[in-house]
Amino acid sequence: LEPRIAYIRDTVTSIQDYPKPGIIFRDITSTLADAKALHLILDLLTERYQDKGLTQIAGIEARGFIFAAALADRLNCGVTLVRKQGKLPRAVHSQAYSLEYGNDTLELHKDALSSTDKVLLVDDLLATGGTMCAAAELVQRTQAEVIEAAFLIELTGLPGRQRIEQSGVPCYAICAYD
Ligand code: PRP
Ligand code: HPA
Repeated sequence: LEPRIAYIRDTVTSIQDYPKPGIIFRDITSTLADAKALHLILDLLTERYQDKGLTQIAGIEARGFIFAAALADRLNCGVTLVRKQGKLPRAVHSQAYSLEYGNDTLELHKDALSSTDKVLLVDDLLATGGTMCAAAELVQRTQAEVIEAAFLIELTGLPGRQRIEQSGVPCYAICAYD
């Protein structure tokens, strides 16, 4: 493993049986609190995306916003917010997606992006991929181009990556857990 990735991975806290028995929750609050880890995450993402001609970094509420904002500043891009239903004040595209229990809806301002935008989607963690697929769909409805979906963590025991790639969107994660 690349030493920088090993360092970042070691800062993630694993909590047994949260939010329910049998689940190991990967908690990134400890990673965010580690100045070196945060710096290394942004270094890795900057190296990967600096020459891709990106115009906007789209962050998914809530934890995706943190990485999107910091990376946008590094890459001299704007930040686009993909939000939970009812938070955006102007006309929106809406996309429902399934969660473990029930459904939720993500929204994006219709005029947030246009056909000249090249967009990187960012979130903290990939599980089933439902959230990211809905976000990619929203970006594509504005006619903007989705360049990739980037995550800090990928849970490889779930078919999230396959789901995103099957929808035609490339996928990148810094660290993986079974
Ligand atoms: C978590 C995580 C991703 C999503 C991943 O967010 O931050 O956005 O779930 O799950 P999926 O790949 O199965 O869709 P959550 O919905 O808990 O929202 P939050 O960031 O606002 O806490
Ligand atoms: N950690 C954080 N968010 C999550 C997880 C997890 O393990 N699984 C699904 N969303």
